[in-house]
Amino acid sequence: MTKIAVFVSGRGSNFQAIIEAIGEGRLAAEVVLVIGDKPEIGAFDIAKKNGIHYTYFNKNDFESEENYDSAILAALEKYQVQLIALAGYMKKIGQTVIRGYKNRILNIHPALLPSFGGAGMFGVRVHKAVLGYGSKVSGVTVHLVDDEYDTGVPILQRCVPVLEDDTPETLAARVLAEEHKIFPEALQLFCENKIEVNGRKLIVRKAG
Ligand code: GRF
Repeated sequence: MTKIAVFVSGRGSNFQAIIEAIGEGRLAAEVVLVIGDKPEIGAFDIAKKNGIHYTYFNKNDFESEENYDSAILAALEKYQVQLIALAGYMKKIGQTVIRGYKNRILNIHPALLPSFGGAGMFGVRVHKAVLGYGSKVSGVTVHLVDDEYDTGVPILQRCVPVLEDDTPETLAARVLAEEHKIFPEALQLFCENKIEVNGRKLIVRKAG
């Protein structure tokens, strides 16, 4: 059973989808730790309800960025975390953690990267930008995390149509429904040891 840590900053619907996928046997993993960036986060209620340990790290509580990063890494190691899912986590992951979990940190983005990504592109802003551009499709990207925003190698991408009468909210809801399907699927590929990364080329092996 792969031990996963889920990083959150908000309501945690993707975290909930991960828990459901585990419960239904679609994801061979155990969420052993939930990490947030502030004390009050909706997703912590989900952790509480499911008896999952949760904690938060605020950069301002640490003397240096290095100490902050090391504290996160130490928590991950304490819980023997093998794989990290960023599920609506608003902070950049530090170098120490990225190095410690090379190609083992996945993020979900509510658009088809490299379009509509990067610093400042989050939440409803993404969907406003998609509609503002006049795109006919949008979608979801699950990608590996590197040290820039939204630039890591994609693992899975899936399209949803953009409808003529869409508002940012209706588009967000259609995208979110797809997010809830593909994040557990992408995590499962790692749990089955099917992913091989060679530079920007990602190969999904047939068997583990
Ligand atoms: C999702 O849209 C995800 O793609 C983005 O942040 C949002 C988090 O939503 N990275 P939730 O907290 O999982 O409901």
